[in-house]
Amino acid sequence: MKWEEALGSEHILVTGGAGYIGSHTTQLLLDQGYQVTVVDNLSTGHAWSVGDAELIQCDLREPVVLAGALRKKSFTGIIHFAGLSQVGESIAQPLSYFDNNVTGSLNLIDYAAQAGIDQFVFSSSAAVYGNPRAAVIDETHVIAPINPYGMSKAMVETMLAESARANDLRAIALRYFNAAGAMPSCGLGEAHDPETHLIPNVLKSLLLAADASPGDAYLKVFGDDYETPDGTCIRDYVHVTDLAQAHVSALRYVKDTAGAQAVNLGTGRGHSVLEIIDTCQQVTGKDIAHIIEPRRAGDPAVLVADNKLAGELLDWRPQRTLTDIVSDAWQWHQMSS
Ligand code: UFG
Repeated sequence: MKWEEALGSEHILVTGGAGYIGSHTTQLLLDQGYQVTVVDNLSTGHAWSVGDAELIQCDLREPVVLAGALRKKSFTGIIHFAGLSQVGESIAQPLSYFDNNVTGSLNLIDYAAQAGIDQFVFSSSAAVYGNPRAAVIDETHVIAPINPYGMSKAMVETMLAESARANDLRAIALRYFNAAGAMPSCGLGEAHDPETHLIPNVLKSLLLAADASPGDAYLKVFGDDYETPDGTCIRDYVHVTDLAQAHVSALRYVKDTAGAQAVNLGTGRGHSVLEIIDTCQQVTGKDIAHIIEPRRAGDPAVLVADNKLAGELLDWRPQRTLTDIVSDAWQWHQMSS
């Protein structure tokens, strides 16, 4: 059997496939010949972003409805993105995060067991580490989340590890660092509302500057008094297309490997907020005005991934640079504004 035929017979359930990283991964799966069904409650995702995948609007917190909607389907694996993802909101509304992210995941893991699906890829986050105890962190770093968002991800990782031990589930948790960029050729990009992330905010400030009243368009930089070379926070920005590729590699990994595993997904390189603004200026050719605000609560000074394990287990090495990230995001924001 040729590999294209082999892939064609694989049917993947993608929860949250209408969201940012989920929609990019769905597109890549379709491009690579997988059959894809997206389950999404469309609370933050967009129906337009699932492309040619089948879309079922359903909430994971309704397990009977979910099982009914999926009754006649036979999946080879699950990629689970569905969940709320804003750190600040999770501090204000913790129960909503535990309900959506933990209850929803519990129902899905239970559905997988009932349906005999043993391949499970989970969208986790560097937020499980809490305040980093080293500048570059690997998967042995203590799990000590400092907000309900990170706690909810850590709880789901625990459920997967225990299910792997008890029920032969094959699971991998992918701990993203800072997802960024877009796939403008497919009409996909970062469309959060409200937007809290740095790169889209920098680029949107340029688009707003054209018709906003003075002051409104200014980009806020949260803190310039950190112990970093230029005083602003350092993060590890990884292209969403590279992340999508890691999910496809992770599907292959869980097919062949028993147990549960957690893997960092980052580039291993850090960039400060001011470096990001500088790269955005170079890519767009425009000056970007910014104002310095006080530190944002809960922001660590430096967060950079050690990504060796992803290379070893998934044969995954990010291919795209920071300039690629900003160029693709800029192209997409201009198209979608
Ligand atoms: N920042 C600004 N201005 C903005 C937005 C962000 O200065 O308008 C700064 C932040 O203070 C931070 C950096 O840019 O220093 C990056 O902030 P983001 O909001 O883009 O990303 P975070 O590092 O806060 O969040 C990421 C993921 C989360 C994950 C978290 C783990 O997006 O899902 O890392 O710490 F939980």
